[in-house]
Amino acid sequence: MRNKIVFYLNGNRKEVGAREASMMLAEYLRYDLGLTGTKIVCAEGDCGACSVLRYFPHVKGTDTSNYLPINSCITLVAQLDGSSIVTVEALKKDNELHESQKAMVECHGSQCGFCTPGFVMAITGLVEEKLAKKDYKMDEQEAKNCMTGNLCRCTGYQPIVNAAMSIDLEKCEGLKERFYSERQEVELTKIFSESVLLESDEFFYFAPKTMKEALNYLKDFPDTKIVASATDLGVVHNKRKAHLTRLLSLHLVSELYKVEISGTEVKLGARVTHTEFRHSMKDKLPEFANYLDIFASPQIKNIGTVIGNIANASPVGDTPPAFLALDATVNTVGPKGEREIPISKFFLAYRKTALEHGEIITSVKFKLPSKNSSIKFYKNSNRKDLDISAVNLAIRVEWKDESKKEIQDIMIAAGGVAATPLRLIQTETALKNNFDIEAAVTTLHSEFTPLSDVRASSAYRHVLVENFFRRFFAEVGGAQ
Ligand SMILES: Cc1cc2nc3c(=O)[nH]c(=O)nc-3n(C[C@H](O)[C@H](O)[C@H](O)COP(=O)(O)OP(=O)(O)OC[C@H]3O[C@@H](n4cnc5c(N)ncnc54)[C@H](O)[C@@H]3O)c2cc1C
Ligand code: FES
Ligand code: FES
Repeated sequence: MRNKIVFYLNGNRKEVGAREASMMLAEYLRYDLGLTGTKIVCAEGDCGACSVLRYFPHVKGTDTSNYLPINSCITLVAQLDGSSIVTVEALKKDNELHESQKAMVECHGSQCGFCTPGFVMAITGLVEEKLAKKDYKMDEQEAKNCMTGNLCRCTGYQPIVNAAMSIDLEKCEGLKERFYSERQEVELTKIFSESVLLESDEFFYFAPKTMKEALNYLKDFPDTKIVASATDLGVVHNKRKAHLTRLLSLHLVSELYKVEISGTEVKLGARVTHTEFRHSMKDKLPEFANYLDIFASPQIKNIGTVIGNIANASPVGDTPPAFLALDATVNTVGPKGEREIPISKFFLAYRKTALEHGEIITSVKFKLPSKNSSIKFYKNSNRKDLDISAVNLAIRVEWKDESKKEIQDIMIAAGGVAATPLRLIQTETALKNNFDIEAAVTTLHSEFTPLSDVRASSAYRHVLVENFFRRFFAEVGGAQ
């Protein structure tokens, strides 16, 4: 059993125990190591000032196996196990700034400078992605997208976009060449051979190699919290609403990193991130991949797991309605063995799921829609990027035939309209019996009674759901 977290920081091997492992990475960098280039502003994953680059070599073979930006303010040091991290301090080489830093200077991309290291890391993440693809031309939309997780209060964004656009990618040296070595590969592979147990007076952390060990630990310590990537849990911890003191992490269970696509069936493991899922859906289910474009920020998607989003069971979570519309199954393992829970039976009440005590989600499974089907996902939030939904809606229709005159089957699910993500079953039935959209709109409004809150009033949520509903049929066609 290992009692240290092992990772590389700016090319140097680090081994840390329970005290450091319990800290947020940004605090560890700044207060333990004096690496103050990484800033802490919001401590909630919203501003990007704390961005660092992380390469997790265990996930191979996709275009996500690069140094990717993540938010260090909500990442526990324990979560770095097996990772190679680069901070802003290391970008400079032989006293010369990295091309993304030079560009910020030359394009006047910085005023007070507080956000600057975060922007530099976000832009460097894009540079890494482009170099890995051997694509040496900067694209303005990509430049803007890479910054959706970063906020600047004084410069204004245009000079920062100009800076990204001005980078000559041919001149950039990849960070893997500088900070990743064969020795690291060997060392970071080796860590997967042993489970990890860290214990101190205040922090207990177990990362087993097998699900059997995980289940035994949950039986022995029922107050344990499962942690995936802590993009939800880290915020709760920083807001002092709950302390992360006894944690179970599944990051050493290799089979949980797989996205398996066999025929039309897709199964994604509990450790699959939004970025990896998006990558694997680009050709298979582009509607889902495009929907994930407006999910959180690159920093959050690069580490946050899809299954964390389902297990979190937020009524405004973005993937639950999509998986409801896909009629997905949540696969679990627990003290009583394995279960396949239809996702329509998974969300029981506000933040309450069908998971029993000691039960762990291992994967989620769904079928790709058939050729005779239409599927769309919609999200409305106050800000287009990096904002939680006021309302989201997912609709999948299986048509009887190509004429789209009759509905064989339909699944409609919404978020932000009830205490749980909600299937709109009466509207589905009404449409199956009589494909009359005007009549179905009346049923639709009768099926939910949303709250008014800071994101939207109840009346506005009704308008949004109706508009998305009408928009679906306007976009996909279908007999009127
Ligand atoms: C700035 C910011 C922006 C965000 N934007 C969005 C957004 O646009 N849309 C959206 O829907 N969400 C958003 N989120 C929420 C969050 O990123 C997602 O819910 C994410 O998918 C959570 O995954 P995680 O791996 O970080 O989960 P964690 O925080 O580690 O865990 C979340 C919950 O899932 C449980 N859990 C995790 N894995 C398992 C498992 N295998 N079995 C059982 N339980 C498990 C944990 O115990 C915990 O209760 C945002 C968060 C932040 C900080
Ligand atoms: S400090 Fe704002 S995202 Fe981390
Ligand atoms: S330069 Fe001041 S916040 Fe961006």
